[in-house]
Amino acid sequence: MIPSQNRSQPLRLGVLASGSGSNLQSIIDRCQDGSLSAEVVLVITNNPDAKALDRAQQAGIPAVCIDHRQFAGREEFDRALVAKLRSAGVELVVLAGFMRIITPVMLEAFPQRVINIHPALLPAFPGLHVQQQAIDYGARFSGCTVHFVDAGVDTGPIIIQAVVPILAGDDAERLAARILEQEHLIYPRAIQLISEGRIRIEGRQVRIDPPAAVTGDRLINPGLVN
Ligand code: GAR
Repeated sequence: MIPSQNRSQPLRLGVLASGSGSNLQSIIDRCQDGSLSAEVVLVITNNPDAKALDRAQQAGIPAVCIDHRQFAGREEFDRALVAKLRSAGVELVVLAGFMRIITPVMLEAFPQRVINIHPALLPAFPGLHVQQQAIDYGARFSGCTVHFVDAGVDTGPIIIQAVVPILAGDDAERLAARILEQEHLIYPRAIQLISEGRIRIEGRQVRIDPPAAVTGDRLINPGLVN
């Protein structure tokens, strides 16, 4: 079930992050400036050293570390996550650089309410180290994708994507930084569309109603002139 239209309260987000938390920060910032009608009510990390924890504390958001290494398996870990998310009244689970594979335990607890951001143009380059993979492959474009999480790895229905050209001389770090800038734009936008109740999943398709305008009808790399 996707959160419904005409909400009187901001959508309650639980953000799961393993590292720097720059996507978490962009979501917090958009909630604070009012452009995103949502509220981060809980941050969970699996990594005690995650900068995401500091960002949450800085913003006065409850944050907790649940270390996956203390659990016998993925399901047990997910059960602990689900208990925390439920007790905080989370409506939408937002994976933001969360480097653990989610199990059916989480998906059954939050059906169609777990989303993820991935630093590539899915379905190309699922998994890890994807900026390097895109460069090594010789792709002319990469980008980022926000999608619903399903039982596969980076396979769920796609909500929004941004395209980023791969430039001569790019290494994984430079490309990742340019992709990250776009992540910070599209993740809050995807959450806002959900919060507005404009998103419906039909099989693999994510329908947006009313449709959002698309700017530009093509990207070509290398360009057609010079
Ligand atoms: C982001 O690039 C995100 O897309 C990626 O990790 C980075 C986290 O950055 N996620 C994955 O690779 C998930 N498999 P952040 O901690 O600064 O938001």
